[in-house]
Amino acid sequence: MQLSRFLTTLTILSGITLSAPLSAAPPNGHAAENDARQAVSLPAPMRAHMLANMRDHLEAMGEIQAALADEDFATAAEIAEARLGMSSMDDHGASRIARFMPEGMREIGVRMHRAASEFARISRDAEITGDLRPPLEALAGVNRQCVACHAGYRAVGAD
Ligand code: HEC
Repeated sequence: MQLSRFLTTLTILSGITLSAPLSAAPPNGHAAENDARQAVSLPAPMRAHMLANMRDHLEAMGEIQAALADEDFATAAEIAEARLGMSSMDDHGASRIARFMPEGMREIGVRMHRAASEFARISRDAEITGDLRPPLEALAGVNRQCVACHAGYRAVGAD
């Protein structure tokens, strides 16, 4: 796409985003009223554990982006596999928490772990090709799963 067309599209899209009502968490203290996300009830310690994992997910995404910027594809792959990929699932008690998740949420979770392992594979390939684009695209694929789950679900603590 030409740069000018890309910028026009971006402007239109951001215009739409800005004018759209903030349905997820409006800054008026009435978030729950028009929050269409499905509430998932978890025992409080499990919810705390999950949110701590989430914060680590975000940190890992940032570290992966920094490694890609350095063209350090091996490090990017390692971080993705260890902290977001299929190998990370045992570490953070994913199967214990997964039992509390509705089917759709569990599926997105699995898709995210798969996408991260796929990213790791593609990033290792980039060590040979030196082409940054395929890993960037694969990382966007991981991010899409974060977004999909957050759009559909929220977590509430139960005792
Ligand atoms: C299978 C579902 C799912 C996936 C996949 C997922 N999350 Fe989450 N995440 C949640 C839920 C549910 C919450 C709690 C949201 C709420 O209650 O408002 C959350 C919360 C968070 C939070 C806030 C943590 C806090 O302390 O409040 C961060 C940061 C986060 N996620 C990052 C990520 C990132 C980055 C990814 C992808 C690499 C990701 N998440 C993938 C379900 C998911």
